[in-house]
Amino acid sequence: MKKSSKAKRWGDATLAIHAGEEKFRIGAAVGTSIARTANFTFSSTEEMKRWAEGKSAAYIYTRYGNPTLTIAEQKIAALEGAEAAVVAASGTAAVSAALLSVLHAGDEVIASRQLYGGSYRLLRDVFPRFGIGVRFVESDLAGIEKLASARTKSLYIETPTNPTLRLVDLKKAAAFAQEWGLVSIVDNTFASPVLQKPLSMGFNIVVHSASKYLAGHSDVIAGAAAGSKVLMDKVRSNIIQIGGSMDPEAAFLLIRGMKTLEIRVERQCRTAMAVAKFLEKHPKVARVHYPGLPSHPDHKLARRQMRGFGAMLAFDHKGGLAGARRFGDRIRVFLLAASLGGVESLAILPIYTSHYNMSPAELRAASVEPGTVRVSVGLEDPEDLIEDLRQALA
Ligand SMILES: Cc1ncc(COP(=O)(O)O)c(C=O)c1O
Repeated sequence: MKKSSKAKRWGDATLAIHAGEEKFRIGAAVGTSIARTANFTFSSTEEMKRWAEGKSAAYIYTRYGNPTLTIAEQKIAALEGAEAAVVAASGTAAVSAALLSVLHAGDEVIASRQLYGGSYRLLRDVFPRFGIGVRFVESDLAGIEKLASARTKSLYIETPTNPTLRLVDLKKAAAFAQEWGLVSIVDNTFASPVLQKPLSMGFNIVVHSASKYLAGHSDVIAGAAAGSKVLMDKVRSNIIQIGGSMDPEAAFLLIRGMKTLEIRVERQCRTAMAVAKFLEKHPKVARVHYPGLPSHPDHKLARRQMRGFGAMLAFDHKGGLAGARRFGDRIRVFLLAASLGGVESLAILPIYTSHYNMSPAELRAASVEPGTVRVSVGLEDPEDLIEDLRQALA
């Protein structure tokens, strides 16, 4: 398609604005239109027949596809440098559809232990019920070769990890997956394609909670997967069959958000660095987890594989759980809220949110302490954010 070959030469900011738009422009409208419809008319019974035979790519029913969803998919594919992308009703729908497109009963997946709590619980509680085994590895991949066997079919990781921002070496992980013939899947939510493009480092599938940086305004639940056309056809088929399709209204919000993705992430990264430096010097803070700080164990790796250090960070309050709760109850500019990646700065206690329902051993393995606070840095004035942290920690 003329548009996509042109799009390939563009930078991320241009792609996020223009990719996918041209074909579906209604009249001369600059703004993206929403195909607010559940179904589409066939032009004839002949077209109906061709669709049934797999010879027509016509839209028929929004769960199967819709022009507004296609625009979002083309933007995400362009940003991730993928042949194709599929959007889903949530990040979790995208994660499960990607894994289910690869795994069958009797198979095993190796997954990094440090994952978003929901993804961890999906692997720990749901997949084993269907005969899919899960082997967890630490984010440094130590001893991973001992976990692989003929049953292993996929490697699933997240980098940076939620909530303590550890990194997985993407090139090393992709090389391991290639050696064992595994389909490698990475959750790129925390970095966004602006900061990291795992497919260019050898990964097969990228998944996103698009509810976060991609949409960027805390007003929509959305997910996406990107990769080769062959793999995305499988993911799409799972989404259609299980029923995790995105709504066109959500696709519109995602598209609208993505148009400012690059500039948001750039500014958020700058502010996050200022916030991390402030927290690192604060007497009530035991430790700051931010890959942009030289004190972070994966700082060198972050410099190698990321274009910026991101806008997520965590810190351990010296006062433990009581200190973290006092902090949480006092913040005014930061909102005490789950999720991340929006324009509003947020703080949460992972033990009560992303990492609820985990044993002390599981929390230790994820480096989550009772006094850990996770912070998502938004787009407010950096001075206002730092002042808010100062008063809430005082
Ligand atoms: C890293 C990561 N992946 C996946 C998800 C799940 O996405 P969703 O809430 O859109 O289903 C989240 C949600 O917080 C997340 O933080």
